[in-house]
Amino acid sequence: MDLLKILEEVVHPALGEKNIVELGMVDGVVESDGKVEVTLGFPKKPDPLKDYLVGATKAALIRALPEGVEIEVKTVVKNPSPKPQKLELDLEQISCVRHIIGVASGKGGVGKSTVAVNLAIALARAGYKVGLADADVYGPSVPLMTGTEGAVPAAVEEEGKQLIIPIEKYGVKWMSVGYFAERGQALIWRGPMACSALKQMILQVKWGDLDFLLIDMPPGTGDIHISLVQEIPVEGALIVTTPQAVALSDVEKGVDMFRNKNINRRIFGIVENMAWFTPEEHPSEKYFIFGRDGGAAMAERFGIPLLAQIPLVQSIREDGDAGTPAALSSRPDGLAFMALASALADECA
Ligand SMILES: Nc1ncnc2c1ncn2[C@@H]1O[C@H](COP(=O)(O)OP(=O)(O)O)[C@@H](O)[C@H]1O
Ligand SMILES: [Mg+2]
Repeated sequence: MDLLKILEEVVHPALGEKNIVELGMVDGVVESDGKVEVTLGFPKKPDPLKDYLVGATKAALIRALPEGVEIEVKTVVKNPSPKPQKLELDLEQISCVRHIIGVASGKGGVGKSTVAVNLAIALARAGYKVGLADADVYGPSVPLMTGTEGAVPAAVEEEGKQLIIPIEKYGVKWMSVGYFAERGQALIWRGPMACSALKQMILQVKWGDLDFLLIDMPPGTGDIHISLVQEIPVEGALIVTTPQAVALSDVEKGVDMFRNKNINRRIFGIVENMAWFTPEEHPSEKYFIFGRDGGAAMAERFGIPLLAQIPLVQSIREDGDAGTPAALSSRPDGLAFMALASALADECA
């Protein structure tokens, strides 16, 4: 028997005809063999209707429960529960960031995080001050890719505000929801929570003075993206795609989103990832396994620069899994990310 359903019939006559359940007055319900015990919570201020409500609650239970069940209604004095502290996020922590750039893709698995992480390192190698916020609250991959899994960001309080200190490695300041989750724990957020977690990863972080803050956006083009781009002064976006036709049609959605009149942000360029396959043993060979120049064709169609073509090479994946991104190396794949960094810096200049 649903006891709360029964208690919902008890209405507080003085409080807008609301019932005691929705008023939060039911402090406890204990059901044990042959006995039901309900505790009603009242504020310190005496409620003239207290006795009436205890009686009405008893009556509702007697009516609904089978004969023979022992019924007890108790009362407690409850202090009003402290209001949950409202999280106040403002743009102060990103006020010294020159370029805030979203790394986006229409769909997952195209190498968005790989590009974001390697681009951040390449920009740092080129001498820029760089931060990266992993806003992919559903599948944060920055801790693994940068070998910072298990790092615990410190918190400081400044002027009454709680701030998170980013993790520094490879010359880049990293922040990710992954630092706040148990290893291997699936992150499941409902829409509004995902949105606020994501904003915290950007606005509650002590970034300091930065040339570039990259945001590894969640895949797709949903509400989260729109709210993010509207509330944070993102200057523009990079769109990552693979050459396949399916990936390209997803990219179209990404492009449309940033060009939507309510968002209207610049698209700095397209990065064609996995543009061709180059075997480790034959670094000069190119196999166009996903088709050739799909990203270039798309860039032309939308009038957006193609900023880089990144090959599919085994070492990019291996280095990502090992936490030592390819951009740290001077192999051809590492240099491809350096070229991307310089192309982006030119676009921003
Ligand atoms: N150019 C590349 N060469 C080899 N492997 C790659 C390349 N780009 C991405 N990968 C691998 O593909 C997988 C998906 O990449 P990831 O960056 O996590 O995609 P996304 O963030 O778009 O979901 C990862 O295992 C990554 O190491
Ligand atoms: Mg990712």
